[in-house]
Amino acid sequence: MDLTPTPRDRFAFGLWTVGWRANDPFGDPTRERLDPVEAVHGLADIGAYGVTFHDDDLVPFGTPAAERDAIVDRFRGALDETGLVVPTATTNLFGHPVFKDGALTAKDRDVRRFALRKAARNIDLAAELGARTYVFWGGREGSEAEAAYDPAAALERYREGLNALTHYVRERGYRLRFAVEPKPNEPRGDILLPTIGHALAFVQTLDHPEMVGVNPEVGHEQMAGLNAVHGYAQALWQGKLFHVDLNGQHGPRYDQDLVFGHGDLINAFFLVDLLENGGYDGPRHFDYKPLRTESIEGVWESARANMRTYLMLRERARRFRQDPEVAEARTAARVDRLSVPTLDEGESVASVLSEELDVAEAAERGAANARLQQLAVEHLMGAR
Ligand code: GCO
Ligand code: MN
Ligand code: MN
Repeated sequence: MDLTPTPRDRFAFGLWTVGWRANDPFGDPTRERLDPVEAVHGLADIGAYGVTFHDDDLVPFGTPAAERDAIVDRFRGALDETGLVVPTATTNLFGHPVFKDGALTAKDRDVRRFALRKAARNIDLAAELGARTYVFWGGREGSEAEAAYDPAAALERYREGLNALTHYVRERGYRLRFAVEPKPNEPRGDILLPTIGHALAFVQTLDHPEMVGVNPEVGHEQMAGLNAVHGYAQALWQGKLFHVDLNGQHGPRYDQDLVFGHGDLINAFFLVDLLENGGYDGPRHFDYKPLRTESIEGVWESARANMRTYLMLRERARRFRQDPEVAEARTAARVDRLSVPTLDEGESVASVLSEELDVAEAAERGAANARLQQLAVEHLMGAR
C-alpha cells in the first residue's frame, strides 16, 4: 500500500496544528514557536497541498501595519516556493481576553464591531491568497451563566454578524463561501450552534444561505455523543459540507484533537468511505493537536500520521467496496433498496391505502446487517 501523500490527495493543515505550543489549562508550553514559513516548508516536505490559518497564527495580535506586510510577504514567498495553497482561512475571535464573553455575540456592542472588523480584514487577506472557504468557529460565542444569557438574542446577533460579512464578501466580489464549525463546549461551558444539526438549521435563516455551509469536526460531534458520519452525511445530503476538520476523539470528554483515526477508528473508516464516495470535493483538512509530550520530531511524525491513516482507510474502503463477498452481503442486507422511492411517480398515500403487507413475514425477516458490519471490520483490520 503506497502511503506517500501527494498534493493530489489535497491534505491540508492549520498553522495552529503543527504550530501548537502545547500549553494547556494545567501546564506551560512544551515547544518553541514554529515560524509559519518553516511550517509551510515542513508541510510541503511531507506531501500536504494546503495550509490554513487564523489571522493571529500568521500575524500576531497587535502587530503594527508595516511589520504585518513584511510577515505576509514572507509567507507568500514560502507559498510560491513550495507550491502550497491556502484553501481556507479563519479569524481568531476567541484568544484575546477582549473576546472573553463573546465576539460576534458579545454583549458589548463595540466588541462586536471590533470582531466584524477583525474578520473583514482577514477575509481580505484570505481572498488575496486565493482561499475559497472562510471558517467561523465561535469558540467564545456562548456562556456559563444561564441567568446572564439570552440565547435567542445571541443567535440574532450571530445571524446579524454573518449576514454583514456575507454582504461584505459580495460587495468586494470575492469568491469565498463561509463554513460554520459547530462545537458543543470548550472553551465556553456551552457554545452556540453546538452540533452540525444546529448549524444547518441556523444557516437557513441567513440572508445568503447559499453562501454558507458547515465545517464539521469529527471530535466535536463525538464530544456531543453523536455519530460524526451521520452528521457529515446529512450536511453532504443538504449540499452544505463545504469543508471538513478531521481528527480523533474518545467519546464525550474534553476536546482531545487527536490524530485522525486515533479515536474511534471504525467511525473514521466509514467517514473516509463517505468522503471518498459520497461526493465531497473539498480539502481533507486536519485539525488536530500534536501530543504535548512530543518534541518537534513528534509533531511532524503526527502530522504524517493523519495523512497515512487517511490513505490507509481510503485503501481499505476501496477494497471493501470491491470485494464480491461484500457486494453479496450488501444485497442480502438490502442496502440499495433504501434508494428506491417509497411511492412511484404519480402515486400518493391513497395508493397504499388498499395494499396489504404480510406483517408477520416482514417482522420475522432478519436484516442481515451483522455480517456486513463484520466484513467492514475485517477489511479495516487488513484481514481481507
Ligand atoms: C477546536 C476548534 C478549533 C477551530 C479552529 C478554527 O478544536 O476547538 O476546532 O481548532 O477549528 O480554531 O477556528
Ligand atoms: Mn477540536
Ligand atoms: Mn476545528
